[in-house]
Amino acid sequence: MPPQFCPATPECQATRYSKGKCPPQGIYEPVVCDAGYYCPPGGKRKLECEKGTYCPMGSHQPWKCDFGAICPPKSQRQVVTVPFGFLIAFDLMLGIIVVIGYAVSAWRKRRKTAYSPIANLKEGADELADDVELISRPKRSVTTVLENEVDEDLSSNPDFKIFMRFIGKLIKTKEVGLSFEFDDLQFEPKPGKKILRNVSGAIDSGSMWAIMGGSGAGKSTFVNVLMGKTKNTGGSIKVNGHPKDMSKYKKLIGYVPQDDIVLPELTVRENILHSARVRLPMTWKDRDIQAFVDSVISCIGLSHVQHSLVGDANKPVISGGQRKRVSIGMELTAAPMAIFLDEPTSGLDATSASSIMRLLRAITKLGVTTITIIHQPREQIFHGFDNLLLLGNGSEIYAGPTVYASAYFASLGFTLPTRANPADTIMDIITGNGREYTTDPSWTERPVDRLIEEWRTRSKLNPFDDDDMSLAPTATLGSTFESSPSLRPALSRPVSIISSPEQEHSLLQTMKKRGASWPAQMYYCFKRSITQQVRNKGSFFFEIGVGALAGGIIGLSAFAAKGQLFRGLYLKPFTTLSSAVDYQSVSQIGLLGGMAIGLAASAPAVKVFGEEKLIFNREVSSGHSSSAYYMGKMLSVLPRICLSSLHFSVFMGILATPLMSFNQMFAANLLYFYSVYGLASCIGMIVKREDGPLLAVMASLIIGVLGGVAPPLSKVKQWNLEGLWRMSPGVWFTEAYVSQNLLPLDYLYMLEVASAQTGFKFGQYNVDMWILLAIGSIYRVFAFVLLVTMARVR
Ligand SMILES: Nc1ncnc2c1ncn2[C@@H]1O[C@H](COP(=O)(O)OP(=O)(O)OP(=O)(O)O)[C@@H](O)[C@H]1O
Ligand SMILES: [Mg+2]
Repeated sequence: MPPQFCPATPECQATRYSKGKCPPQGIYEPVVCDAGYYCPPGGKRKLECEKGTYCPMGSHQPWKCDFGAICPPKSQRQVVTVPFGFLIAFDLMLGIIVVIGYAVSAWRKRRKTAYSPIANLKEGADELADDVELISRPKRSVTTVLENEVDEDLSSNPDFKIFMRFIGKLIKTKEVGLSFEFDDLQFEPKPGKKILRNVSGAIDSGSMWAIMGGSGAGKSTFVNVLMGKTKNTGGSIKVNGHPKDMSKYKKLIGYVPQDDIVLPELTVRENILHSARVRLPMTWKDRDIQAFVDSVISCIGLSHVQHSLVGDANKPVISGGQRKRVSIGMELTAAPMAIFLDEPTSGLDATSASSIMRLLRAITKLGVTTITIIHQPREQIFHGFDNLLLLGNGSEIYAGPTVYASAYFASLGFTLPTRANPADTIMDIITGNGREYTTDPSWTERPVDRLIEEWRTRSKLNPFDDDDMSLAPTATLGSTFESSPSLRPALSRPVSIISSPEQEHSLLQTMKKRGASWPAQMYYCFKRSITQQVRNKGSFFFEIGVGALAGGIIGLSAFAAKGQLFRGLYLKPFTTLSSAVDYQSVSQIGLLGGMAIGLAASAPAVKVFGEEKLIFNREVSSGHSSSAYYMGKMLSVLPRICLSSLHFSVFMGILATPLMSFNQMFAANLLYFYSVYGLASCIGMIVKREDGPLLAVMASLIIGVLGGVAPPLSKVKQWNLEGLWRMSPGVWFTEAYVSQNLLPLDYLYMLEVASAQTGFKFGQYNVDMWILLAIGSIYRVFAFVLLVTMARVR
């Protein structure tokens, strides 16, 4: 027999519809058991909820509290404390780790480096001894170079000797080296905008070239085209006599960019060490790598600052010139066979500039091809280059031995003052300001174009066989050049050596051996990124704090509801007792939670992923695996995501006391954090760095709004747009929240009605979680694709 009841009075109904309470209106009218009590089946008794249990409204038996939860007698909710305790313990541990970290790094700095090159080098000496010379141009072994061809002050530096031995071993003189030949090179990014035109020439392996020209003359562009970073729109490039795609050789090429692209959060040593670890042959032991890095750091004169952070323009720690040297060191440790340097000496004092150039000269002697863009070299440095390529308006003005440059310009009618630095004079001439050096009035009109024209006609003949030229070097340069006739043919236009299949094979083998394995690269990137985060602990703790605060505030907003976050239509026979429904509270918590996570996570996420596009480009173009880099970076933020969502969940859980279990709530929050990080990394890839955080926050708000709360998903279904909403992680997140908070109440309320009204499907928590994981991962894949394509475009 269903319970009998008398219809409630209109006043009583009004009270109920406004969520108030109205006593039974007749003796047969049933009541829903009050919160804090339970009413066993039979319906005759109403018992107080005991300590250790809790009783939401309408309970017919007490619910057992979780271990450690606060549940005094007559509780209608449980305050779960274990996660909170866990959190406190965890944070304490984190604090201890930070302190220990400080101590360890302080200790490391004090410790003197104890790496010494080991057996490897000795056995290397034997290897060098029985070198077979495969190419016509003899290359010198380390020993000869060290003994005969290096300046006093360098050869007396023991680290320099170690450095040279390592390099010698790495590039093995028996291999062919890299020579380049380029013919009629053009670069025209937009029709009509020619940046490079008709640049032809050959760069022999083991030669040292300087590229000079006015600002905007196309020097950087030329180097980028030659290295294969920028695709030439016309002409051809040959490597060792064979037309080859230069990007294939990226592991053997070092490139020091014009701007210092180094990681500011790492120390000098860490920056260089990373490059060494990733690019040196994978068979090398860490000890050897460390010893080699030591020698490089010493050779570039940074030993005293090796443990200082690099810093950037905003927060400089080491000086600009030192940062430049870090950038050079990063390439030297890779022991490239050809090294391109874009203004390596700008920002360096004259002495350090000379010492860097001497170092480059020394490795050139071992067979490394060196191509340096240089501004204002001092005379001594200028003469250190074997060859000179002068550019003006993207065209060649001179290419050939440095010793002949003055003679060449003399043959054009310029008189180079003997007391001035020839480099400065030449720069004046090729930038069109050479009037004062000539009496020929015809040089006043369009001088640069005329210089280009002159070179074009003269270079077709052999310019260095010219009669005026034969006398010139002795006349202008005196002692720097011995005019012995036997040298003449060697100095005529260099012809690049065509490598034999055997040599190509050997080169290929070298390339194969170079570079750490994929997992190792990933691990180094992961470790490096963790270091960066540790150095930026401020923002790390800030992010966690914001997560905790956001969770706390949302929890607080639901605190007064005492865990009763839902009110639906009662099941029969209580249906007529139903008061006004509340389908909103839970979904709103979902919405707010989603938004809060979006706000807390997107800005830091953009920072982690988006700020290193330049570094990424630099590393990838030197042979670093892009997927290993990205994977390492991505894994390194997982601890951060876990910590943030843990703090968020604990504070929200303890205040809002939802019916959903803590673990499920944590999992949902974690996966939503994961999705937001993924989304923010996509944004970080597309937009400019300074717009990143703002747009990422915007995007996270959008996916939050597409969460199916307002407008409700049921409405969206009527518009036939559910598919669109379901693409947003917000829907799955809110669905998990709504579903898991309502399902425990299925003994009391008509949940199908709630499901139809809200539009969410109940009971598919696992599906919701998997889809969140999938969406977050898709975002990441997408971000990776963006990263790689954007790098290509640039
Ligand atoms: N991809 C490109 N699209 C359009 N213009 C370009 C591109 N690359 C370079 N330029 C232009 O080509 C010219 C030469 O640039 P480049 O960077 O090669 O000069 P530079 O000789 O290295 O000068 P600086 O000494 O100042 O570094 C500049 O005017 C530059 O704006
Ligand atoms: Mg440049």
